Amino acid sequence: MFQKRRENLLSLMKEREMDAVVFVPGSNLYYFTGLKLKQSERLTLAILARDGKLTFLAPQVELSKVETVANKSTFWYTDEEGPANAISQLKEHAGSLGIVGVEFGYMRVMEQKAAEAIGYENLVDLSHCINELRMQKEANEIELMKKAVQIVEESLEATLDYIKPGAVEIEIAAQLEYEMRRRGSEGTPFGTIVASGYRGALPHGRAADKKIESGDLIVLDFGSIYKGYVADITRTVAVGEISDELKKVYEIVKKANETAIEAVKPGVTAHDIDETARSIIREAGFGQYFTHRLGHGLGLSAHEDPYMMQQNNLVLKSGMAFTIEPGIYLKDKGGVRIEDNIIVTEEGHLNLMSYTKDLIVL
Ligand code: CO
Ligand code: CO
Repeated sequence: MFQKRRENLLSLMKEREMDAVVFVPGSNLYYFTGLKLKQSERLTLAILARDGKLTFLAPQVELSKVETVANKSTFWYTDEEGPANAISQLKEHAGSLGIVGVEFGYMRVMEQKAAEAIGYENLVDLSHCINELRMQKEANEIELMKKAVQIVEESLEATLDYIKPGAVEIEIAAQLEYEMRRRGSEGTPFGTIVASGYRGALPHGRAADKKIESGDLIVLDFGSIYKGYVADITRTVAVGEISDELKKVYEIVKKANETAIEAVKPGVTAHDIDETARSIIREAGFGQYFTHRLGHGLGLSAHEDPYMMQQNNLVLKSGMAFTIEPGIYLKDKGGVRIEDNIIVTEEGHLNLMSYTKDLIVL
């Protein structure tokens, strides 16, 4: 699988007359090698040469991991000596020094300087090509995403009992995260959002020390990671009797979510899907309160291509995976967002989520 992905990349490199690609630790490196490394203060580079050979510059502490994919071609250093010597050895070993692809969004200055010290000076951004390869999911990737979705849905169900007047947002977030961990989640892909009452008007209202009150709408937006793959769900629940205005807003967001999902099929554009949801909210008179794009791609990252937004004329193809998450945010009153994870299929679409979107009143 990883070999096949590298072959795809190698043919892209050939087309673009690139001599090498230099990766930093992260999801792209995982996608092409199966190696899970975290970007840290310890300099780590992976070099994929035009002939398919993988070479690493890595700290000794990661050696056993790195050697599983690049036996005998790792230039390593200890914490005490630092990477300078390993960089000079790599420089002698490095082959052709033509055009080298890198990930502009992830490579930090220290990694860029190291790449230049090795002799790779003509760095070009390869993000767009890599994003395109990653966008269309393989069947095995979709299976892992389904499992990640199962984890978030079961964890939401298991947490509802804890959501009541007096409960603190952070406690609810802790419960959600505990339930996800128990079910096999490797961690959280982003800070868990529990935004109740007036805090719900903050689209990114991370759980805080606010207590739940009767009459609050609560936006719960959280994610799991299963074998590297992310699920990202939002449901908005009510505690006690909420105002008629919030009830109305809830129904508008639900309709925008459902109608946009129905419109997903190969051949339509990301713009079309965004517009489908946005026009419903606009025509209901709440257009100015839907302040973000409709959704984002997901997979090995919580945010990746394709982005569901007005300016994106990308034509959807089978295998693409993304969220649909319209929202309305009313200052001082509260917010509603409903988020599902969608896969484009040959016939139309598959909603990985089946958790109810009817308003849950606790
Ligand atoms: Co989300
Ligand atoms: Co999202």
